[in-house]
Amino acid sequence: MLLKDRVAIVTGSGGGLGRSHALYLASKGAKVVVNDLAEAAAQGVVDEIVAAGGQAMAAVGSVTDVDAVQAMVDAAMQAWGRIDILINNAGILRDKSFAKMTMDDFRLVVDVHLMGAAICSKAVWEIMRAQDYGRIVMTTSSSGLYGNFGQANYGAAKLAQVG
Ligand SMILES: NC(=O)c1ccc[n+]([C@@H]2O[C@H](COP(=O)([O-])OP(=O)(O)OC[C@H]3O[C@@H](n4cnc5c(N)ncnc54)[C@H](O)[C@@H]3O)[C@@H](O)[C@H]2O)c1
Repeated sequence: MLLKDRVAIVTGSGGGLGRSHALYLASKGAKVVVNDLAEAAAQGVVDEIVAAGGQAMAAVGSVTDVDAVQAMVDAAMQAWGRIDILINNAGILRDKSFAKMTMDDFRLVVDVHLMGAAICSKAVWEIMRAQDYGRIVMTTSSSGLYGNFGQANYGAAKLAQVG
């Protein structure tokens, strides 16, 4: 798989699986937007990619923030002129039994996983349509497909991403 001249956004890629996705895409030649809440984490992954000879930029902000997501997409378009790949990876957990779970924690998890993925997908959609090319990856979970104790919020959000 050669991704030279492709531009990828990986949300929540300052650490964890997203960092691995970002490093992998960059190793295949893609220019990568490293999104995360924490500037130091995002910049650290950018530095790793650049040190390995790749191209990357940091985009700090929450996937739930429509304006921040739009600014990220605008910055990528200004720098590289296209967006080919979006990996909706950003995520959080607020595990608790449903009896103890607050609705605030339920809503927060749904907001980040489901609304965050929808907001980011919407922000690149017209660009991908105009290019007649685009790939969007949703990061779901077996907790969504089968359910898991303590994860009513997470499971609901993850199965919603399948939809
Ligand atoms: N680790 C697993 O076993 C596993 C299994 C199934 C699915 N997943 C999913 O894979 C994805 C990554 O999981 P992980 O284990 O690497 O998690 P992680 O906590 O290690 O990394 C998640 C990253 O997302 C960032 N993030 C959190 N909220 C954000 C927001 N609102 N906007 C932007 N960035 C945000 C965090 O700062 C962090 O860097 C998640 O969607 C998770 O639900 C993970």
